[in-house]
Amino acid sequence: MKIINVVAARPNFMKVAPIAAEMKKHPEIEPRLVHTGQHYSAGLSGDFLDRLGLGEPDVNLEVGSGSHAVQTAEVMKRFEPVLGAEQPDLVLVVGDVNSTLAAALTAVKLHVPVAHVEAGLRSFDRAMPEEINRILTDQISTYLFTTEPSAERNLAAEGIDPERVHFVGNTMIDTLLAQRDGLDVPGTLARYGVERGAYALLTLHRPSNVDTPESLGETLAALRALHDAARASSLGAAFRMLFPIHPRTKNNLRAFDLESAAAGMVGLELLPPIPYPDFLALMSAAGLVVTDSGGIQEETTVLGVPCLTMRENTERPITIDEGTNTLVGRDADLLVWHGLDALTGDRPTPARPHLWDGHAAERIVRVLFGG
Ligand code: UD1
Repeated sequence: MKIINVVAARPNFMKVAPIAAEMKKHPEIEPRLVHTGQHYSAGLSGDFLDRLGLGEPDVNLEVGSGSHAVQTAEVMKRFEPVLGAEQPDLVLVVGDVNSTLAAALTAVKLHVPVAHVEAGLRSFDRAMPEEINRILTDQISTYLFTTEPSAERNLAAEGIDPERVHFVGNTMIDTLLAQRDGLDVPGTLARYGVERGAYALLTLHRPSNVDTPESLGETLAALRALHDAARASSLGAAFRMLFPIHPRTKNNLRAFDLESAAAGMVGLELLPPIPYPDFLALMSAAGLVVTDSGGIQEETTVLGVPCLTMRENTERPITIDEGTNTLVGRDADLLVWHGLDALTGDRPTPARPHLWDGHAAERIVRVLFGG
């Protein structure tokens, strides 16, 4: 059985790593790794491949950045001959980035079955490119592996045969749990110059928050309100905000002339994208995480760290129902209210949603290959 595992962008690597490792334990499975090259900077790609043991991809399609149409089309054009040459029995895709849909569509047109890991999540916000990628990938996949019960309900509502749907847990949490014990948290905090619980860790890159001067200005104004309120609280000048900044956000801060507004916040540190173990260590000891990422809502839930999500919706409702996540949009008052509560109140009890137990990849391989 030859399987092509597809990776493309930063959040894909930790989802595929445990699946690829599990496949390698089975001599009858011949896994191949195809990187579409959607992310190519070392801080978003190469560092992750090395640290997660994925190694060099067998093929890198090197599609790079582009408009949605260009990026999707380039993956399809460049993946099709790889499928022709490799003749795989299955293509496995993860998540919801443009490459996920492009690779799945290319495979299914050549009658190669597709497995979609993290199927069925829905924000019900079709302005998000990821929502379109999720809906379409699920429609054409043979195996749909889900992380939480809402996904099964969403797929059923879209008429997808329940026989194709398998609730297996969360492979990104497999990776988090595998890495957690090896983290040097005190050493990492010392290197970044922060004290446990006395800092907020920020990640913001959604087009809806950063792609126009208005939305990025509002995002910064909300962060400024949180920053000022936290510094006026019992934390005082010890409070810091660490902001490893995504290239999309960095480019837009410059393009919209907002760099000085960010630089004017004493205690806000704009950092380049940081390595995964550092990020996990910083997340686990943060007083608060502020994000618009999908995966970070899940990671903070397992780590028991309060997470304020600067979005109006989430495709991961279990992180609100059972976890530590709260939606605040770009509302500065909500961000300050919940932020101060998190920074100065009791820490929530870590929740572990059902099957987020470190064994999701094993279940996936069992469904696909038996045993
Ligand atoms: C993509 C995904 C998003 C995911 C995010 C994780 C889609 C539609 N979006 O968004 O779901 O949450 O990845 O990071 O698939 N750039 C670099 N180096 C890189 C890649 C990008 O500098 O390695 C810069 C380029 O200027 C590029 C911009 O970042 O134009 C945006 O990259 P892109 O891949 O288009 O989207 P992301 O915002 O990264």
